[in-house]
Order: sequence, then structure tokens, then C-alpha cells
Amino acid sequence: MANLEKDIQEYDRLVEKLKALNIEVQKDQERNPVLYGPNGEQFIQSLQYASDYVNQLSTYYEGLKKQKMYYEGCDFSDRRKKRTRDLIKAKKEDLDLLAAQHDYLLEHPKLTNLFLEVTLRCNAKCEHCGSSCGYDFPKDEISAEDLKRTLLEIHEHYGAKNVFLTVTGGEPLMRKDLFDIMKYAVSLGFRWGMTTNGMLIDEEIIQKYRETNMESISISLDGLKETHESFRKVPGSFDRIMHAIDLLKGLETLRSFQITTVANKKNMDELEDLYQLLLSKGIKEWRVMCVDPIGRANLNDGILLDKEGLVRMYHFITEKRLEGKMVVDNDCSHYLGLKYEQITRPHGFFCGAGLFIGSILSNGDICVCPNVRKKELVQGNIKTDSFVDVWENRFEIFRKKRITMVTNEKCKKCKSFKYCRGDSYHTWNYDENMPNMCMKEILEEEFVE
Ligand SMILES: C[S@@+](CC[C@H](N)C(=O)[O-])C[C@H]1O[C@@H](n2cnc3c(N)ncnc32)[C@H](O)[C@@H]1O
Ligand code: SF4
Ligand code: SF4
Repeated sequence: MANLEKDIQEYDRLVEKLKALNIEVQKDQERNPVLYGPNGEQFIQSLQYASDYVNQLSTYYEGLKKQKMYYEGCDFSDRRKKRTRDLIKAKKEDLDLLAAQHDYLLEHPKLTNLFLEVTLRCNAKCEHCGSSCGYDFPKDEISAEDLKRTLLEIHEHYGAKNVFLTVTGGEPLMRKDLFDIMKYAVSLGFRWGMTTNGMLIDEEIIQKYRETNMESISISLDGLKETHESFRKVPGSFDRIMHAIDLLKGLETLRSFQITTVANKKNMDELEDLYQLLLSKGIKEWRVMCVDPIGRANLNDGILLDKEGLVRMYHFITEKRLEGKMVVDNDCSHYLGLKYEQITRPHGFFCGAGLFIGSILSNGDICVCPNVRKKELVQGNIKTDSFVDVWENRFEIFRKKRITMVTNEKCKKCKSFKYCRGDSYHTWNYDENMPNMCMKEILEEEFVE
């Protein structure tokens, strides 16, 4: 009874908070408040998670209001105009704060996000796969015991509640003992989510998600039916994803349900139709990012976006974000310059690899995020090392001020270095100490410094 009263009080508090943001709330059932956004879009969450969710939403809508205000009447082709000057100043202030946070974390790293790449096996063979996954069974895959031992160690040192686990692959659902591992993780107090190609999700998997309290999911969708299936090399995969989306709507443990699309030369013309399709399926979060020159994408460089493609993608994301019908975000990669920073995603560029993000790769290697896979950058292996010892005492290369490593003149002399720092760690060329991807070079005059 006491709990119910507490729940009701919490519910009323949230309703007031939302009203202040012009978001309407109606109670569907005792445990299912229905939240309506300013455009009539509907969010359904269980009360258990409503509090966090509302906080996220408030931040999102407050940010959106600020962004709309910023962008009205702003023209980046003339920086002398007052509105443009004000916008640039405001963005720089935010980016200065992020740069200060980055500097702080270089000195005081704190693990809060851990990727578990549980396998490199995959039931697809995507043209862009950054991890070059196929159908082989790698012989050195980490055992459930190694993973469980490491999770226990992390829990004992940092507290399971403070580290969010993102399970990835390969295709994580290919691993038969996955839910046994996650059951153990949850028993220690870890919260978790996964990225998946969605092809194996059925009623049985949904029940396993429920039993292990899975909180977030990202499903990859790289185009309309024909494009998606030819890109991923799996006939029938599109319909399976549509079915998975329908099934996931009934999963009450989910706090974040995202579709991820990797924009490339083959699907650029389909983004608008995909948006309409996802809206009609009730999707609320869509991450649209560009294909990066890593793994198999390096062999298929015909799919990489050029300047025109990237500009189209950033415009598309901006337009859809400001429409406010869906939370459309770019991913965390790449410093985009002052025109596209902080409008294509809620936060500015911040590569947290090795600062708050760590990873355990499918063979047990300890590194920063699954997109960074170079052997020389691996910091240890959970089969032989203590994860905590490695996290605390190694990772030097990721925690050095990048400026001390930069030898290339391009970055050294760059006015944007303070915010960019040589761009994402996964596209940094550690052999030659220079960026493999520099948006200033690619976007040219569209990159505002
Ligand atoms: C490596 S996959 C692993 C999880 C799962 N197999 C899937 O496809 O979602 C994780 C995400 O990275 C994306 N990805 C793969 N290669 C990429 C690349 N070269 N550039 C950008 N994103 C990439 C995938 O599309 C997917 O959304
Ligand atoms: S992107 Fe995902 S689904 Fe595609 S091959 Fe790589 S791991 Fe498999
Ligand atoms: S030159 Fe270096 S610091 Fe400047 S934008 Fe390019 S990658 Fe970033």
C-alpha cells in the first residue's frame, strides 16, 4: 500500500513537470501512463520507469526549444549577423564546457558504459560491417565463466548499478548462453541493453528480455525492404524486423527503443520514406549516422558518403529533430563544426573512449569501444588479466592529451582542435598520428569554425 501511494505521488509530480513543458499526460491503467508530446505523439512507459523517462524527455524538449530559438533567422553564410554571432557564441560556450569535462576525465576516468561484444558470429554479412563479421565460428570466443568472473569483479569495485552494459556483436542473439550471462549480470545489479540486427527476435526472446529486465534496444535497419536486404545479404530480414518491432511494443521493461540506420550511398534516397514508415510503426527514437571507413566498409568504399551526402544527412536529421515528432539523433562520432554541432544530436561531440567507455571484445580483449579494434590498442584480456587493474593502470594512450600525440600539421594548426581533438578514436590513425576522417576536410565551407 505504502508503495502504491509513493507511486501515485511520483506520478502526480511527473504530470506537473510535464504540464510545464506542454506535454499532456493521461493515465491509461494504474501502471501505464500514456504521455503525449507537443505534437500529439504518444509515449507509453510503465510507471516504474516514468521518472527517468520524463527527465530524459524534459531535457530533450527543453533542448529542442532552445535549438529552435537558436536557429530561427540564423544564417551561417554571414557570421556578422547578430543572430548568427549569438548562436555561435552559445554553441562555443557549451563546447567549452564539454572540453573541460573531457580534460577532467583524462585525469579522472570513470567507467560508466561497458560494451560486451559477446560474439563475432553473425547471421548477416553486411556490406559496411565495421567488425567484418561473417558466419565463421571464431575459436577464441570468451566463455560465460570469464565474463561472469569479470562482471563480479567490476561489481565489487565500482558497483553494478554504476555501469551500464551494452551487449553487442556480431549478432549477440547468436550466442546461446547470452541470457544465462545476463541473468547473472542482473542478479549483481547491472542494467543492460543490446544492439541487434533484430532477425532472431521472436516471442521466446521477448520473454527472455522480460525475465532479464532488458532496458534498451537498438535494431539496425538500413533501408526499405529491397535495399536493406541486399545491403545485409539476408532475404526476408526486413519483414522479420517489422515483426520484431511489433513484438517489442509489448515489452514493458524497455526504456529506450531505438532504430539505427547507417546512411550510405545506397539508402540516402530512402530516408524520408523510412521516416514515414517508422512513424507509422510508432517508433520514437531513430539514430541516423554515416557509414565510417572501418572494417568491411573500407573494402566497399563506394558506399561511403561524400560531402553532398553528409550535408544532406545532417540537414535531414536537423529538419526531423526540429519537427519534434520523433527523437532523431546523429550518433556520437565526429566533430562536425559549429553549424552542425548540437543540432544533429542533443550533446556536442565527445569521444569518451577509455574515459567512461570501455569494451570487452569477443575474444576477451579489453579495449575502448568495439569500433576500435586495432591489436596494438588492446590493453589486456579478461582471460588472463583483471579488468579493473587494466582499466585503472593501463589505457595510457587514450588518456593522454591528444595534442601531445599529434604530429601532423593539419590538426596542430587547426582552429577547431580544442573541440575536435583529432576526431573520434575509432577513426584516428595511430600509426601516423593523424585522423582518417576529418570533417573539416570533407565538409569544406559547410564546416563552420
Ligand atoms: C556492429 S553492429 C553489431 C550489432 C548487430 N549485429 C547489428 O547489426 O545491429 C552495431 C551497429 O554498428 C553499425 N555499423 C557496422 N559497421 C559500421 C560502419 N562501418 N560504420 C558505421 N556503423 C557501422 C551497425 O549497422 C549496427 O547498427
Ligand atoms: S553490422 Fe551487425 S548484422 Fe551486419 S554483419 Fe556486422 S555484426 Fe552482423
Ligand atoms: S584537422 Fe584535426 S582537429 Fe581539425 S577538424 Fe580535422 S581532425 Fe579535427
